[in-house]
Amino acid sequence: MEQILAACRAELERGGAVVALTGAGVSAESGIPTFRGKEGYWTIGSREYHPQELATFEAFERMPWSVWAWYLYRRGVCLRAEPNAAHHALARLDAALSGRFSLVTQNVDGLHRRAGSPDARTYPIHGDITQMRCAADCTVERWPIPEEVGDVPRGEDVPEAWQKLLVCPRCGGMARPHILWFDESYDEPRFHFDSVLRLARRAALLLIIGTSASTNLPWHVVRLADGVGATLVDINIEDNPFGDIASRTGGVVRQPAAEAVPALVEHFVEYLGHRVG
Ligand code: OAD
Repeated sequence: MEQILAACRAELERGGAVVALTGAGVSAESGIPTFRGKEGYWTIGSREYHPQELATFEAFERMPWSVWAWYLYRRGVCLRAEPNAAHHALARLDAALSGRFSLVTQNVDGLHRRAGSPDARTYPIHGDITQMRCAADCTVERWPIPEEVGDVPRGEDVPEAWQKLLVCPRCGGMARPHILWFDESYDEPRFHFDSVLRLARRAALLLIIGTSASTNLPWHVVRLADGVGATLVDINIEDNPFGDIASRTGGVVRQPAAEAVPALVEHFVEYLGHRVG
């Protein structure tokens, strides 16, 4: 651990940009099931679906209200969850680094925002579960899902009265959850693709927290940051491909995010305080 801290301190000292890349593992201790964990399954009719099967435009086209039901259930889980110590620590790190810090998150749960990470420096690359947009893409604009639309309990359908509210305010067509699905592509207007690549190219220290390295843009981020010589630290309870890369630079911390991130941030804040003072 001391070696990891020393590598991080060296980057803080040099004054470069610090980026955190978070995945579902950062919210696990807030009670939100991870994607590839065991708890995420969903039953439609007599069939069990894995989230990855439902998180596609193809599934939405085939059974839109079943997909909406799953997202409205999951939105309820996210809204009832509370940010944990890792989310709070990352908001604290943002405040301590005054503009040198950016947060790239795959999570759609909004917990980073609720912990105080500012929208101006937070890049949600997979969408936001509390928002909807036009299913026909008549615009890239998105809107909050209307307040009248509540939770759908497991196994239940979206009530017809709510279905009438889940429409695009611009063209009146069907709305969809503002989520990047597996059969879709990243872009800048909706998913900050170019901005995030720019951040990665300028990163001096990249903290990779609670992600299984299963999606495309995070891979670009890690490869680009590694390519420009950034120090990479992987925080995860399990080994994963990003850990293999990080182990060659900063190192790996095999602890739950809610333990490891606050400890790391505490150390950084103390160090920065001494340096300034
Ligand atoms: P995954 O569910 O694939 O991976 C979660 C990772 O978090 C795993 O590597 C776990 O080992 C780790 N983990 C679990 N609990 C942890 C804890 N307490 N502390 C630290 N790490 C922990 O989630 P993601 O990598 O975020 O995409 O998945 C990436 C994307 O695939 C998601 O954003 C979603 C998904 O399908 C979309 O919705 C587009």
